[in-house]
Amino acid sequence: HQPAQHEAQTAIFAHRGSKSNRPENTLASFQEAIRVQSDGIELDVHLSADNQLIVIHDEKVDRTTNAKGLVRKLTLADIKKLDAGSWFSPGFANEKIPTLNEVLTLLTEQNFTGSLNIEIKTDKYHYPDIEKLLSHQMTSQNWQFSYLYSSFNLSSLAIIHKLEQTTELAYLTYNHKKDVILGNKQDFITSIHPKKTYAFDNPNQTMSNPKPIRLWTINNSLEMQIAYQENVEAIITDHPEKALQLRDKFNK
Ligand code: G3P
Ligand code: MG
Repeated sequence: HQPAQHEAQTAIFAHRGSKSNRPENTLASFQEAIRVQSDGIELDVHLSADNQLIVIHDEKVDRTTNAKGLVRKLTLADIKKLDAGSWFSPGFANEKIPTLNEVLTLLTEQNFTGSLNIEIKTDKYHYPDIEKLLSHQMTSQNWQFSYLYSSFNLSSLAIIHKLEQTTELAYLTYNHKKDVILGNKQDFITSIHPKKTYAFDNPNQTMSNPKPIRLWTINNSLEMQIAYQENVEAIITDHPEKALQLRDKFNK
């Protein structure tokens, strides 16, 4: 059949925002991703003790704030007291951990018209009802941007599919062919997000994959060029500005 990797150029998704030069998963990071005109923005969601959708990568606040503890044991009020920028650089001391709602507001205010990739972080701990809360939030309005969900946890995506039948669902995988095959086989899965080495080890399968492929996390120029050559749907990168500049050169 038709290779899914498309005619349009590879899209650039900013990983946790513009992670290389801003504290990851903060409004500053998303703002920068918008400023450089990223085609997409990836973020990670967890649930707080009071069932708020929180944008952070880890289950714990330890690595990216001035405090310690599991997100699911903290209330939104506790989380809002934390400094989510100083660990990265003292100039970002005022950055807070955002809620998903705050990110959606920023994207709307900034007239973002790209694609928002919401990664549901249920691979280590499955937050009860996170899919229902997410879906409720995302379907509460008509956004001017498009969005898709991704997860390493296939059951989260199956639950979301029951709630939102037409939303794009991406299966996150490591470099295992069997996982890519599984994602291709599942009807409710619309795209595959493999670890980058999958594409380097399996260029032919990547280029002819029946479902669109977005690779993570592509950060150096050589890897970016391989991804552009393989014409994958998108790359997810910590360096969106560099990736966009390189894509311009590549297409000349
Ligand atoms: O969604 C791509 C990538 O973010 C998956 O891994 O650990 O950075 O969330 P991680
Ligand atoms: Mg992620």
